[in-house]
Amino acid sequence: MNDNSEERITETVLKSFEGAPNQRLRMLMTSLVTHLHAFIREVEPTEAEWFAAIKFLTRTGQMCDDKRQEFILLSDTLGVSMLVDAINHSMGAGATESTIFGPFYRSGAEELPYGASINKDGGGEPCVVTGRVLATDGTPIPNATLDVWETNENGLYDQQDPAQSEMNLRGKFRTDGRGRYKFVGIKPVPYPIPDDGPVGEMLRASGRNWYRAAHIHLIVSADGYVPVTTHLFVKGDPYLESDAVFGVKDTLIADFVRHESAAEAAEHAVRAPFYMVEHDWVLEPAA
Ligand code: BEZ
Ligand code: FE
Repeated sequence: MNDNSEERITETVLKSFEGAPNQRLRMLMTSLVTHLHAFIREVEPTEAEWFAAIKFLTRTGQMCDDKRQEFILLSDTLGVSMLVDAINHSMGAGATESTIFGPFYRSGAEELPYGASINKDGGGEPCVVTGRVLATDGTPIPNATLDVWETNENGLYDQQDPAQSEMNLRGKFRTDGRGRYKFVGIKPVPYPIPDDGPVGEMLRASGRNWYRAAHIHLIVSADGYVPVTTHLFVKGDPYLESDAVFGVKDTLIADFVRHESAAEAAEHAVRAPFYMVEHDWVLEPAA
């Protein structure tokens, strides 16, 4: 006998997964149905609302290709990407915190010498980024790698902007024998996440901000240590409290200090005025 009434339908659907041979799949589908049905019971959508939701998800899928991934953006703006990151990267005490990877990484950035510039096009406010890579016990790590990327002064990554040089504002650096690194980029600017699709509509309709707080992306890694995908944020940025993808962690905010001196600028092979930021990255030994 079938009983697919409002009272019994959840139980019936849950039962349909009881025979799933893969235990993890069974657990995932059981939990998904439990939460999804609870959501529907709570909000009691009209049929028009339910079709609008399906249309939203359909348009989200239609906006995915090798250059644009609207579903990741949806996960990012709902805080799910950061939650998955937190669950999978519970760093040991003292290690640098991870944050969102984002859709704009490109592998194959050129390895550049200590202190070199990643700013191929010369725009923006020059920024010297320096510091150390350390182990959680405070030991400096020589030969650690920092893979870095940021937008240009207009808030666009190179692959979003045909006017920029290929691989602009990307580079790989290694720490020296004392665990120190240094590179020259630009002072990062806040920028809007892609807002011309369903996710942008959702943010606008919700009265939410669609800007990211200014940041430089980094993947810091070294042999024998757990790599970290992270950001360096700018103290005083107006979007630190409302980052569109919830990526800000207080430990990743640093002082970008403005310097006016032409003589000091010359020491770093940049023009004045320029900014300087010093930040250490701490890696946990691999298990
Ligand atoms: C980024 O920081 O590059 C980014 C992260 C999530 C969504 C969009 C952009
Ligand atoms: Fe970014």
